[in-house]
Amino acid sequence: MNTSQKITVRTLHDYKSRGEKFLMLTAYDACTAHWAEAAGVPTILVGDSMGNTVLGYPNTLPVTLEESLLHTSAVRRGAPNAFVVGDMPFMSYQVSVEEAVRNAGRYLKECGADAVKLEGGRTMLPVIERLVTVGIPVVGHIGLLPQSVLKDGGYRLHGKADDEANALIADARALDAAGVCAMVLEGIPRELAATITCQVSAPTIGIAAGAGTDGQVQVIADLLGLNADGFTPRHAKRYAEVGETAIAAIRQYVSEVQSGIFPDEAHSAGAKAKS
Ligand code: KIV
Repeated sequence: MNTSQKITVRTLHDYKSRGEKFLMLTAYDACTAHWAEAAGVPTILVGDSMGNTVLGYPNTLPVTLEESLLHTSAVRRGAPNAFVVGDMPFMSYQVSVEEAVRNAGRYLKECGADAVKLEGGRTMLPVIERLVTVGIPVVGHIGLLPQSVLKDGGYRLHGKADDEANALIADARALDAAGVCAMVLEGIPRELAATITCQVSAPTIGIAAGAGTDGQVQVIADLLGLNADGFTPRHAKRYAEVGETAIAAIRQYVSEVQSGIFPDEAHSAGAKAKS
């Protein structure tokens, strides 16, 4: 995909109208954001999955607004053309519409984000409608909602039963009517995700939702093998073992320092620069 030009909400809608599959990847810092953009990823989510993947929390709930803003700014600097989405953390948009607007606005004003994402269906409509009205692009997120892990007693597929599936279709249509610029469908049956995709004008972005969505999103730690605990969710495919490569390289550094191989003449201050 061409990331040499700025990706905007219009680009996302063009993907959908052309039937062109697109993708989103999470990133949390300038380096990984640069990798993603250089590899042709048009949309980057600064997911609150940073809680588990880089901040060492047990889930996404402890992530603070300040942490999320800091990482979103870094991603913006690393990927100037990507469509960067700041993922609003738990309790930064649920207390009141006013607080949600103030917090969401900080992603655009302070970080240069292109949109914010928040979890929830029709219950979140007052917030989403207000954000869209004041000019803040919103990415919706329905199905499995990681911020509700305590309420749900864990992570599970949503929308298997007819009543749950119908509720998700109603949520998707309501978010679409409210003007979201895209919506994440997480942890729902593939047929349901495909049905929703046909019924909404906003591009859908699936994770653990099959191949029938307009786009796909994955967590970069799962894709690259960066997880400290080696855990990979069933829906994710590992394309590399970067964590293992890093540990091997660091082990070699440790061993070379201990045995006196490093630093050698070529890597010492005052060494002649390579011509
Ligand atoms: O935080 C995150 O990474 C997400 C994706 C799983 C969609 O919300």
